Amino acid sequence: MQDYHEFLEEILISEGALQARIRELGADISRDYAGKTPILICILRGGVMFLTDLVRHITVPHMMDFMAVSSYGAGARQSSGHVRIAHDLNTSIKDQDVLLVEDIIDSGHTITEVLSLLQSRQPASLKVCTLLDKAERREIEVPIDYCGFVIPNRFVFGYGLDLDEFYRNLPFIGVAQPDRILRK
Ligand code: PRP
Repeated sequence: MQDYHEFLEEILISEGALQARIRELGADISRDYAGKTPILICILRGGVMFLTDLVRHITVPHMMDFMAVSSYGAGARQSSGHVRIAHDLNTSIKDQDVLLVEDIIDSGHTITEVLSLLQSRQPASLKVCTLLDKAERREIEVPIDYCGFVIPNRFVFGYGLDLDEFYRNLPFIGVAQPDRILRK
C-alpha cells in the first residue's frame, strides 16, 4: 500500500479546522433540537467519521441509524442520478425528528433521492447536515440546514472520503493529485 503523501496535492481542511467546525455544528444542532430527541441518519460509508465526531458535541438525547446507498456506477466518478438502497434503516422514523448526516453533497442526486424516500415515511421533521458542500457541482437544488464547509470542485479524500477505497481514516481533508484522479 502506497503512502498517501504520494497522492496528496495539498491539505484543504486541517484536522484542527475540521474539529473546530464540527464542534460548532454540534452546538448549533443541540440548540435547534432542544427538547427534542432526533434520530441522526448517517449515509454509509463516507459519513461515518463525521457522524462519530459530531455526536460527541450534541448534548440533546438522540438516536443513530445507518443507511447504505450506492450512487455511482462501478468505475464512474459522475453520479448516475439513481441510488440503490443497499442497507435500509433498522428503526421507524414516522413522527420522529430526522437529521440526515452526509460527508459530501456533490451533484445532489444521492441526497435528493434519500430525502424523498425518508419523507415518504412521514417523519415529524427532516433536515440535512453535510460536512462538505461542493456547491459548484450541483445539478439539483438541495436544502442544506447545516454545512461544515463549501469546497471548490477538486477531488478530495480523507476524513471518511476514499481514494480508491483507501485513506478514509485520515484526520484531514486532502486534495488528490490530478494524475491520481485520472486513474479511477
Ligand atoms: C458520496 C457521498 C454522497 C454522494 C454525493 O458517496 O458520501 O453520498 O457521494 O454525491 P452526489 O451529490 O453527486 O450524489 P459515495 O457514493 O462515494 O459512497 P461512499 O460514501 O461509500 O464512499
